[in-house]
Amino acid sequence: MMDFGAGLLRGLPAETAHDAGLRLARAMGPFLPKAAPDDPRLAVTAFGLTFPNPLGLAAGFDKNASVPDAMARFGFGFVECGTVTPRPQAGNPRPRLFRLPQDGAVINRMGFNNGGMERAAANLGRRSGSGLVGINIGANKDSADRISDYEKAFSRLAPLADYVTVNVSSPNTPGLRGLQNRDELTGLLGKLVALRGARKIPLLLKIAPDLDEHAQDEIADVVRQSGIEGLIVSNTTIARPALKSPHAAETGGLSGRPLFEPSTRMLAAMHARLNGAVTLIGVGGIASGADAYAKIRAGASLVQLYSALALQGPSLVARIKSELLACLARDGLARLTDAIGKG
Ligand SMILES: Cc1cc2nc3c(=O)[nH]c(=O)nc-3n(C[C@H](O)[C@H](O)[C@H](O)COP(=O)(O)O)c2cc1C
Repeated sequence: MMDFGAGLLRGLPAETAHDAGLRLARAMGPFLPKAAPDDPRLAVTAFGLTFPNPLGLAAGFDKNASVPDAMARFGFGFVECGTVTPRPQAGNPRPRLFRLPQDGAVINRMGFNNGGMERAAANLGRRSGSGLVGINIGANKDSADRISDYEKAFSRLAPLADYVTVNVSSPNTPGLRGLQNRDELTGLLGKLVALRGARKIPLLLKIAPDLDEHAQDEIADVVRQSGIEGLIVSNTTIARPALKSPHAAETGGLSGRPLFEPSTRMLAAMHARLNGAVTLIGVGGIASGADAYAKIRAGASLVQLYSALALQGPSLVARIKSELLACLARDGLARLTDAIGKG
């Protein structure tokens, strides 16, 4: 039934389908059946939180935190909302979201379209569910002081979330990825760590997959010294491997299957660099239990996806979880956490 709805949406232009899906989730949320309780072998404890399963919804699907509880009902172990900027902004002109079904991929140049932090705060304040929710924050495109934008969004939204992700890796806000440089990143993370009060909310950094070895070394150093709890690898890529779909040449960030290899390679490389100093979340091209398991073996404690959900529909969530259990049984492991970093 859920995937029948997803099938109908697939006939619409990508962003129209996404908006309709969000409205549907918002209207139907309270009436959706709850996903079956998770097998305890899938539970993961990370940065002080216990996740019922390791599969999260990646940022970008629920930019305004309007449907985290509905998405939790599909069986996600956690939902990351955002990216939220301090002020509302329209994002780039449409069309700005493209499906590449032959490649199992998506290209987007949304540009942080969102209703701003007050809207997200109001939505989070109205929640009735108790699933784990992260909030992903960013800077407005026309901001004169980007670091202060992160401080504003952090101060407003951290009290309403279980963790906060600092997004410095969207390719669709000019100059944003420059914040991944050593000095800028040290300054940004230092300010946010200083802003945390007694309730030390977990802080995560989300990075791009398009970083050379030197940049990866620098980020690992900054992350280790900053006192933050986690690293999300990765955002979409500006690279264009060979693609078959007509939209292949669109400008923006590429996600889905072609991102699996490079993002997993980078995850493993950051795992080797950080050696357990922080929790890693693996994102990029997950469309099966085997994909999620590969990220976990590469060092991820948790994983997230977005594109495969858009292309395949929500029954994917239950399938990935049961495939993960099959991977554990095959490898003779008692629980998922035994597989972390064993690749
Ligand atoms: C349409 C779209 C919008 C996105 N928006 C955001 C965003 O606002 N913030 C962010 O950190 N990542 C955003 N992402 C990136 C995803 O969170 C994820 O890192 C990336 O898509 C790779 O995962 P996937 O291959 O499973 O889609 C977006 C991705 C897509 C496809």
